Amino acid sequence: MLIIGADLFGRTRSAQTDTLRSMTSFSPMAPADELPELNGKHIVLGLSGGIACYKAAELCRALIKAGASVQVVMTESAEQFITPVTMQALSGRPVFTSQWDTRASGGQDNNMAHINLSREADAILIAPCSADFIAKLLHGRADDLLSLMCLARPVATVPLLIAPAMNREMYVHPATQRNLAQLQSDGATVLGVGSGFQACGETGDGRMLEPGELLEEIIAFFTPKSLAGQRVLVTAGPTYEAIDPVRGITNLSSGKMGFAVARAAREAGADVTLVAGPVNLPTPRGITRIDVKSASDMLEAVMNRAQRATVFIANAAVADWRPDAPSTQKIKKDGSGQTPQLDFVENQDILATVAQSAAAQRGKLFCVGFAAESHNLLENAQTKRSRKNVPLLVGNIGPDTFGQDHNALLLVDSKGATEMPRAAKLTLARQLVKEIAARINPP
Ligand code: CTP
Repeated sequence: MLIIGADLFGRTRSAQTDTLRSMTSFSPMAPADELPELNGKHIVLGLSGGIACYKAAELCRALIKAGASVQVVMTESAEQFITPVTMQALSGRPVFTSQWDTRASGGQDNNMAHINLSREADAILIAPCSADFIAKLLHGRADDLLSLMCLARPVATVPLLIAPAMNREMYVHPATQRNLAQLQSDGATVLGVGSGFQACGETGDGRMLEPGELLEEIIAFFTPKSLAGQRVLVTAGPTYEAIDPVRGITNLSSGKMGFAVARAAREAGADVTLVAGPVNLPTPRGITRIDVKSASDMLEAVMNRAQRATVFIANAAVADWRPDAPSTQKIKKDGSGQTPQLDFVENQDILATVAQSAAAQRGKLFCVGFAAESHNLLENAQTKRSRKNVPLLVGNIGPDTFGQDHNALLLVDSKGATEMPRAAKLTLARQLVKEIAARINPP
């Protein structure tokens, strides 16, 4: 039997082999595919005029790091903010700025850069896309290379994504909003804007998204939509159970796995709500996040939303017990050396409660549990799956993964167990999402 990841479950190789041998239907999964997400994609990155051009340099690097090849096209206004030299150095390709440029493009010598550059693109991304350029696109104007190329692109095969960037008043102006809505109904994908301090000194909506956020959007754009139409509810992180106003009980869960699962589900086209315990992590793009503190808060947030969900993924490391009567004031030492007496009550099991709901029982809500164990992973995960009455239980070794960027998983269902070898949490989350999609929509 092939054993992958000798230290996955903290066992010796022979003990691991024995455990796995006892599972007749155990199947190891192929090693995780860690190719960069945009491997093989060719992106035409268009820059129109705006101060956010400085972010386009970082975006270009990020796209290349993610495996894409990048062809930069700039308008004359963009050249006022950043030079083609910078963009050529970062993209490793000559930059095109003029429709009268006679150099060969896309391997063709026909002096038609506007045709050739768009034909070889997997997507055209305009970042930054100024208010003026949005208006231009809307009207189908074609008086410079970038607008000409956008108009000449084969609409059915070359998607157009735009990252608006402008002053907040320009952004909320009815003309801009009308133009964005129309561009969207013409088939373009508008990637949204950030909010905050602007170069003009004002504060509000209209900043171009950060390079990392744009990269997340592009990766999501290219991900097959295996969870389209699904409403996915995810719990993540630890919970915090107060002892008094300044102390409490929690655990070492960082929330990284749950956040990765939420991101992967959104990439796969689901409408995602993430109920997060106290963690210090940025919210993945395009999801609804609800922050909670205690297990009771998490239960309430989940029960309020479980009814409209079609998939529930319980990744949170929910505290099993909470102090029975938390003090409203800080508990003080009285000098006697006596320790306080704490009584505990058990927290309600959120996953088991959701799994008992009518929707889950009727097969309308697919429930996935996690098991954080310190030993006997396979046995504990199987027991937990039956006890919580869920179709899929994902086991992992808590002490090996809490706070880390990598993990290894053991998927346990009615057919047996499948091992997902150690990989980045996001890679594993994407594999898990595929597994869930295959169970919801069997081929
Ligand atoms: N879980 C939950 N509500 C709880 C406790 C656990 O929803 N009050 C969920 C977790 O999110 C996870 C699964 O149940 O999906 C298993 O959690 P885990 O902490 O591994 O196990 P416990 O049920 O707490 O059992 P034990 O502590 O005995 O291992």
